[in-house]
Amino acid sequence: MGLLKAKPEETEVLSIARNHEEFPDLTMSLNGSIAGRWSPIALDGAEDAIRAGVGPDLEIAIVAVSDQDEVDLVPIIRVVQAARDSGIKVLLVAKGLSPAGLHQLLRTGADDFAPYPLPDGALIDAISRLRSSYVDDTAAEVKGPKRKRHGIIMPVYGVAGGVGATTFAVNLAWELAVLSKKTDKRVCLLDFNFQFGSVSTYLDLPRRESIYELISDAGDMDHDSLSQALTSYKTRLAVLTAPMDALPLDIIAPEDIARLLEIAQASYDFVVVDMPHTLVHWSDNVLRMAETFFAVLEIDMRSAQNCLRFLRALKAEDLPYEKVQFALNRAPGSLDLNGKARAKRLAESLNVEINILLPDGGKSVQASGDEGLPLAEGQPKNALRKEVRSIAQSIFDAVVAEKAAVVQ
Ligand SMILES: Nc1ncnc2c1ncn2[C@@H]1O[C@H](COP(=O)(O)OP(=O)(O)OP(=O)(O)O)[C@@H](O)[C@H]1O
Ligand SMILES: [Mg+2]
Repeated sequence: MGLLKAKPEETEVLSIARNHEEFPDLTMSLNGSIAGRWSPIALDGAEDAIRAGVGPDLEIAIVAVSDQDEVDLVPIIRVVQAARDSGIKVLLVAKGLSPAGLHQLLRTGADDFAPYPLPDGALIDAISRLRSSYVDDTAAEVKGPKRKRHGIIMPVYGVAGGVGATTFAVNLAWELAVLSKKTDKRVCLLDFNFQFGSVSTYLDLPRRESIYELISDAGDMDHDSLSQALTSYKTRLAVLTAPMDALPLDIIAPEDIARLLEIAQASYDFVVVDMPHTLVHWSDNVLRMAETFFAVLEIDMRSAQNCLRFLRALKAEDLPYEKVQFALNRAPGSLDLNGKARAKRLAESLNVEINILLPDGGKSVQASGDEGLPLAEGQPKNALRKEVRSIAQSIFDAVVAEKAAVVQ
């Protein structure tokens, strides 16, 4: 049916044009952001393909129209209608179209519009917007003109260096983003390791200049300055990477960290934060605002001792340590009785429950990180991925259930 690149079941975005060669920037932008998940299709036959059902993952149809199409807009209108009938969002990309032509197309029910040539970032922004405008059944009932969110904040803290905190944070955020497909849920991941944060490495994302301004001049922070500093991974996960150059961790005041989290919370349903190991004067703000605070540790003396210190610090400051959820990384498998006994002793000596056991995923975990891919993309069958996915699923289900309860 003319789907050239992606397999039909992986196509999330369909790009429809009479002649794609007229829109080279469009192809480039799509390849740059969602390679493998979009397919070009000729205008001829697009209507049939959509009506036949292109694939379960199809969310957005980009309809690229130029002045050459203006002599006969009927085939374009029919495609827009077919997409609308199938519940697919339509983004119109218009090149040299007259205002009358544009008006006519927008009236047929296109959801959004971008001019061609595409301004920097316009396509990604439009795709993100359309995705987040999908509403699930419960949201439809409570939906106002623009729902203000109140996202849950989930910091991830490694009690010692290299225990796997960033790996957990990145993969948890991405699994939540994948689960949020075709819902109105939005996910963001904030790297608060302002010195050596590695989220950008693990997702192969550039570190934007504007992050430096955002953090070093945080007093003036607002929605716009945060969104300028965010990048996105595959248009589905918003990411604040660490800045290009290392910044002191105390460069940001506790009230500004709180403000940053509040802004993120108002725009995203899930806010995952990769925390620095060092306890700084804003750590307690993050903990207080958190829903759940993941503390990642390993089965060794270093983790055990740091963990004790961490718990003691929380108690001394009267911080809500009941929010801390311990995650044992590289946990022993079910057949490793000796390892399991050690894990049990560790939990007893710390006097905590360890509810999350993350298995060792072997060398491929590091390989995925080096390639800049979440496990779901690079190693979907990896044991660590499966465990992180099931954790993400229970968090996701809990949030959806809570909202359903509010609606009733
Ligand atoms: N469960 C696991 N199985 C296999 N490899 C893992 C696992 N968890 C983490 N790793 C690997 O261990 C290394 C350290 O992980 P990561 O960077 O996530 O740790 P961290 O606690 O964030 O470290 P840092 O102290 O640098 O912030 C990485 O190479 C990662 O791929
Ligand atoms: Mg880290």
